[in-house]
Amino acid sequence: MTNTNYNPFRFSTIAHSNHGYLSPLSRNKAHEILRSLVADLSADDIVLDAGCGKAGLLRDVLHMSPARGVGVDINQSFLVEAQAAFRQDFPNDPRLSLINAPLLEHTRPEGGSTHAFGSFEECLRVAFDWLKPNGRLLVADGYWKQAPSQDYLDAIGGTADEFVSHAQNAQRANALGYNLLRTATSSDDEWDEYEGRYCDAMMQYLATHPDDPDSAKFLKRMQDWHNSYLLWGRATLGFGYYLLSRT
Ligand SMILES: C[S@@+](CC[C@H](N)C(=O)[O-])C[C@H]1O[C@@H](n2cnc3c(N)ncnc32)[C@H](O)[C@@H]1O
Repeated sequence: MTNTNYNPFRFSTIAHSNHGYLSPLSRNKAHEILRSLVADLSADDIVLDAGCGKAGLLRDVLHMSPARGVGVDINQSFLVEAQAAFRQDFPNDPRLSLINAPLLEHTRPEGGSTHAFGSFEECLRVAFDWLKPNGRLLVADGYWKQAPSQDYLDAIGGTADEFVSHAQNAQRANALGYNLLRTATSSDDEWDEYEGRYCDAMMQYLATHPDDPDSAKFLKRMQDWHNSYLLWGRATLGFGYYLLSRT
């Protein structure tokens, strides 16, 4: 029998309960990168956050510039939090629109998560068409710090060709016609904080919701994930940020 209440985002929503940004990114680094992204933006500009999560980055953009923001995400729970946080920061400010839908069902975006596009290259290609001349794209994606072991790939259900190196990500952007404005990577501390909050939030939830029908499944999934982070991921998987402009 089909469970019509099945929510595929429940694990992610619970595990991200204590995150502001849903990326291994500190506030200082985010602001440093965003300062370059928002330079010269006017009230006529629109910043699209594709796969915005709780729209933490987009909210920062609206604090740092007069631009308008559009956030798109498939997880309605994240958008509810995004809306509440925005209302608290900006009462009566109409500059933010949030759309609960798969990104590619909507057109005309500027920046965001490659998850929403399917892949890094697809994100670069699609965004190139959407951007105005000289428009800026901030894109973040994984990269290999070293060749992944087969044990790690088996643990996360990944493939070695899923990512390339940080330098190769940047080269891909150049090859597709972008100018590279700046790059950054997540530090070990940022990763530890991201993965630590992810694990801790789920473990706290399971401790206080012992009757959740998914508790055994969620516990195993979280323990396996965190073990693979400690055993291999921390030394192998990086996360890079690429601020690009359309030529
Ligand atoms: C790594 S999180 C990044 C969130 C946000 N950019 C941040 O850094 O805080 C990726 C987000 O993309 C969303 N997402 C994944 N696939 C999507 C799609 N096809 N359309 C829209 N959003 C999507 C997920 O729900 C998740 O919130």
